[in-house]
Formats: sequence, C-alpha cells, structure tokens
Amino acid sequence: MTEGYDVIAKVYDKLNADIDYIAWADFIEKTFERFLKKKPELVLDLACGTGSMTVELARRGYDMIGVDGSEQMLSIASERAYVNFGEENEYRLPILYLLQDMRSFELYGTVGAVVSCLDSINYLTGEGDLGKCFLSVHNYLDPNGIFVFDINTPYKFENIYADNAYILEDDIDGASVYCGWQNFFDDKSGICDFYLTLFSENEDGSYTREEECQHERRYTMEEVKEALKKCGFEFLAAYSDYNFTAAEDKDKRWYIVARAIK
Ligand SMILES: C[S@@+](CC[C@H](N)C(=O)[O-])C[C@H]1O[C@@H](n2cnc3c(N)ncnc32)[C@H](O)[C@@H]1O
Repeated sequence: MTEGYDVIAKVYDKLNADIDYIAWADFIEKTFERFLKKKPELVLDLACGTGSMTVELARRGYDMIGVDGSEQMLSIASERAYVNFGEENEYRLPILYLLQDMRSFELYGTVGAVVSCLDSINYLTGEGDLGKCFLSVHNYLDPNGIFVFDINTPYKFENIYADNAYILEDDIDGASVYCGWQNFFDDKSGICDFYLTLFSENEDGSYTREEECQHERRYTMEEVKEALKKCGFEFLAAYSDYNFTAAEDKDKRWYIVARAIK
C-alpha cells in the first residue's frame, strides 16, 4: 500500500468536484481586502495539490507559486495551468510549481500572502510539524503579510471521520471509479488513518485495484493559536464559513487568518 497522494491523484478532482473553489477564492480575496493594506502581487498556495485554488487565483490576476509534496498531484496541476483559446492560442497562467515539503520549503523571495486549502494543514501529523510549517510560512511572508488556511475541526475528527467508512463513486471519461474509504481515529494521538481502496475500470471492463493510506491530525484552536504565536504570527480571526461567521466548536472546518509580524 502506498502512502500519500500518488494513487488518488488521478481521481482527486472528480472526487472533490463538490468543492466550490470560486466561492472559496472570493472569500480569500475578501480576507486580503480586510487584512492587507494593498492587494498582494505574489501569492503562495501551500500544499496546492492539483492546483484548483492556484489556477483560480492566477486567473484573477495574482502571480502564483504552488508548493506540494506529491509529484503526481503537481503533474496534474501543471497541465491545468494552460488556458486554451484554440489550437494556436495557448496561454500559460503565471504559476510556478515547486515539489517541496511544506515543513521546509524554500522560495526565491517573500510573498504578500500564503493560502492553504482543503485541510492540508491537518496532514502535518508529526510532533513539531505544525511549528516547522508555520515558521517556514513566516520566513517567506512579507512583513504584515497574511496566512489564510483552513483545518478540519476536532468535532469533525471525533464525530464525522471517527471510525466511519464511505464509498465514493464516479465516472471518469466513461470509465467507472469506486473509492472505498475506511477511517481509524485514535483519540489519544489525535491521528486519523484513512485507508483508500480504488477500483478503476479498464477498457476491457475489468477493474484495477490500488490502495493508499493517508493520515490527518486533529488540532484544537488553542494548539493552532499557540503554534502561530510561537512562530511570530498575530492570530487575526477564525471563521466557520465564507461569510465571515465566527468559528464555533461544532463547525466541521475552520478558516483561519494570521498576520506575520516582523
Ligand atoms: C487534501 S489535499 C489538498 C490539495 C489542495 N490544496 C486542494 O485544495 O485541493 C492535501 C495536499 O497536501 C499535500 N501534502 C501533504 N503533506 C505534505 C507535505 N508535508 N508537504 C507538502 N505537501 C503535502 C498532498 O500532496 C496533497 O496534495
């Protein structure tokens, strides 16, 4: 069984088709307006995956850097960076993709804002990983630059992920794909293991079975705030949704904004 995102990459966008990146990007731009003196020119999408948010923000005029640790996810992201206006008219969006670890990445200079979407921060499961990531983000943010990220809440780990199992089903280019997803949540360590079994239909009607394991870690709001403070951030806000509703314990996702003090 492989670890990470290499097997799931080819079906990732289909399985996450319900995520509204346009509304999410609207929210991110509103946080820029709310918390930055001027619109950032260069933005980092940390753990950008297949580039859904990177591409959306690039289309809106930002120069983008996308960092991710999975070669397969980045290879899909790279293909999506091209906007086609017909046979001879291909335009590449201003995106630089880098295959790097979000705990120790290196950029060529600082950026005005860092965003990280779809619980990528929960993938930091080791002791001290959250601090390593936040320090790297702080290092590459302009003074007063902001970090906008989301996390799955403790409520979601304990009540929704828990030890539940799901079957996701879709159709990709006429071929069926089934993804079995079994969770094992350890309340003591706060780590949830996801065992994914993917069945993809071949041309002759047979199916290929592949397996992958992923892990997410539960972080409380206090842990996030403490790690941000230790790494030189001012915690600005935590929201329940894209309408800036204040975060509550029973939310499934928190959208957090912090400012780099330098
Ligand atoms: C749930 S996906 C989110 C991807 C993307 N942000 C989105 O909105 O679709 C989590 C991503 O985190 C990446 N990731 C996990 N651990 C990482 C690490 N230590 N360094 C860099 N990327 C990592 C995975 O490769 C994957 O692309």
